[in-house]
Amino acid sequence: MEWLESYLKNYHGTLLTIAHDRIFLDKMVNQIVELSNHRLTVFKGNYSYYLAEKDRRLEALKKQMALQRTEIKKTQEFIERFRFKATKAKQVQSRIKMLERFEVIELERKEKQVHLQFPEAPKSGREVVSVRQVSKSYGEVNVFRSVDLTIQRGEKVALVGVNGAGKSTLARILSGTEEPSSGTVTYGLNVSMAFFSQESSQNLNYERTIWHEVNLTGSRSNDQEKRNLLGAFLFSGDDIYKEISVLSGGEKSRLALLKILLQDSNLLILDEPTNHLDLKTKEIFQNALLGYSGTVVIVSHDRFFLDRHVNRVIEMCNGQCYEYHGNYSYFIQKRSEMDAAVQGKSDENNSQIRVGAIQNGRGPMAELPRSRELTPGRRALKTKEEKRLEAEERNRLSRITKALKNELVTLESRISHLEEMKAESERILCAPDIHKEPKKIKQLSQEILDIVRELENLYTSWENVSKKLEVNQAGNNGGTIYQ
Ligand SMILES: Nc1ncnc2c1ncn2[C@@H]1O[C@H](COP(=O)(O)OP(=O)(O)OP(=O)(O)O)[C@@H](O)[C@H]1O
Ligand SMILES: [Mg+2]
Repeated sequence: MEWLESYLKNYHGTLLTIAHDRIFLDKMVNQIVELSNHRLTVFKGNYSYYLAEKDRRLEALKKQMALQRTEIKKTQEFIERFRFKATKAKQVQSRIKMLERFEVIELERKEKQVHLQFPEAPKSGREVVSVRQVSKSYGEVNVFRSVDLTIQRGEKVALVGVNGAGKSTLARILSGTEEPSSGTVTYGLNVSMAFFSQESSQNLNYERTIWHEVNLTGSRSNDQEKRNLLGAFLFSGDDIYKEISVLSGGEKSRLALLKILLQDSNLLILDEPTNHLDLKTKEIFQNALLGYSGTVVIVSHDRFFLDRHVNRVIEMCNGQCYEYHGNYSYFIQKRSEMDAAVQGKSDENNSQIRVGAIQNGRGPMAELPRSRELTPGRRALKTKEEKRLEAEERNRLSRITKALKNELVTLESRISHLEEMKAESERILCAPDIHKEPKKIKQLSQEILDIVRELENLYTSWENVSKKLEVNQAGNNGGTIYQ
């Protein structure tokens, strides 16, 4: 996401995006088009502006509505008072017409605010789940090794990392649905766990109806409460008698989450729970989660939510776990401090600083009081030969980096040249007298089409080269590629 944001920040074209990520929208857009009540409304600002402006417009509309009501009332009173008075007949008639002409202001029907609550979490032991020296590999792929981690009662923990870092794998191991290759997982006293993963929606019994499935959760809620909950998750009326097999992907996800809301759990392990949810359902679920008194381990890419919800972040990176005692912004801030420190160090230390900083409490991050290791283990000192090989590898990478940078410069110059040519052709096409020259129009249109085709290829090449460069530079800095 961060990479995409920085890429789009430098993108000179027009961007039209559909997104549920408020932070992304706040950073990227300068106009919001809202689709609601069969209408499109434009707001000239980012997402925060849109929310504030929507409130402001609503308040203004309410005031206008109150004024209008008073005016209507006065007009009606006038008509009532003078309707039988011949001298006022003309005025009464015009007031009646006036009344008919009023476009009565009405507020949009406000969507019902739904508040959901998890059942009170029964108390568990202080240490909820611990993993000791846990490693996991699939054949040749080592996902992570020697992870030590203890989750305490009441903690709200985020698992973060790039795609493929091993978050889902760790979540499955924590939930006991998958065995580690080595190491142990132990649960505290009275731990009652609910686990949500993308597969949860596939594990529903497709032949049952929604209502049947919900009733099998063993929830203490009565029928009305269950119906309310179903309604809040947009299953209302006869919908609840639908067979699960006919539900959409998003609806199945919703149902799987709803089952979690009904369980008496004190440990939730949630792997990207809100991925398929629309904004409204997502908010309902997230607000419920904020009020949850149990322990939560969550994998999510929703930065806005993580910021409000979690107090501990575990970053999975290169087969290791690093932890940060704070919310998501705290994690981002510390990580960029570390990256800056790594950049500032000499080549000699480059490949070790990040690891060393956290693992050994040394190096530039040693002063950070809250970063500490999960997976201790000092590295052996390097031999001369190892150092020589490393230097050779660095040289090789730096040669490739240079070549890639040159390629980027060439691509960028061709792109900007073509963009200028395209703008020029478009300018001529818009000239007032151009319709008199159909041949020219045809020729210009063809030229633009050719340019656009070439530009598309160039943009793709540019992206590929940038990506290669990024990977290469990460390799140069010690093999760490961040999300
Ligand atoms: N059953 C499996 N068999 C083989 N390889 C697997 C299996 N499950 C996961 N992996 C591999 O393990 C690595 C970690 O996968 P995992 O699903 O845990 O990543 P993740 O951090 O959850 O990524 P994402 O952000 O994309 O969800 C990946 O390289 C993946 O290909
Ligand atoms: Mg995953």
